[in-house]
Amino acid sequence: MEFLESLQWRYATKRFDTDRQVSDEDVRKLQEAVNLAATSFGLQPFRVMVVQDPELKEQLRTASYNQPQLTESSHVFVFCAMKEMPPEHIDAYMDRTAEVHDVPREQLNDYASYMKGSVAGKSVESIEAWNKRQVYIALGTLLAAAAEMRIDTCPMEGFDAGEYDRILGLTERGLTATVIAPVGYRSQEDATQHKAKVRVPLEEMFLEQ
Ligand SMILES: Cc1cc2nc3c(=O)[nH]c(=O)nc-3n(C[C@H](O)[C@H](O)[C@H](O)COP(=O)(O)O)c2cc1C
Repeated sequence: MEFLESLQWRYATKRFDTDRQVSDEDVRKLQEAVNLAATSFGLQPFRVMVVQDPELKEQLRTASYNQPQLTESSHVFVFCAMKEMPPEHIDAYMDRTAEVHDVPREQLNDYASYMKGSVAGKSVESIEAWNKRQVYIALGTLLAAAAEMRIDTCPMEGFDAGEYDRILGLTERGLTATVIAPVGYRSQEDATQHKAKVRVPLEEMFLEQ
């Protein structure tokens, strides 16, 4: 029940309290939550940049239709999808699995080949789209974890991804900005916090068979 209360408490925060910063310890916990998100095969085909620098946030605000959350929030989580799925990424994952599970690496060769084969049959566009879908699971995990910690967030797609990729040097890293989440603490002035949630009834969301 407490979890549902947290989900009721959260809302897409429009105005953050510029006097309040999220502590390093809590940012770390949010990072842990994002890193624990489920992904297809466990491949984690994305990386996240946490932006705190005021000048950089200013540049990102310009590339985000001047939305105030960019500069008023404490930190901005920028979720960046991998544009491809190189075999080296799969091998690195298998190496890590062998180490964590304490099994010989050769034992995972068949699984690695299976994953590589599944990726080889897909177009570059569909791999990027697949990677981006994984990003959204991590975004959802962040929103829920932050709400549990009574930290505010605003999921946002309203930005120019090409500009983000340029400003943050993502292209060179084979990444593209997919979705962002400014985090911080709501401003008492933000009227949105008082609005009731607009959702379809459960009977409409959940289908009869
Ligand atoms: C993928 C995604 C993109 C969004 N983009 C923006 C955005 O650019 N700016 C904004 O203010 N809100 C944005 N929102 C917030 C939604 O409008 C909000 O989540 C929705 O109206 C439901 O309200 P609630 O989250 O407050 O319950 C986005 C939400 C999601 C999930």
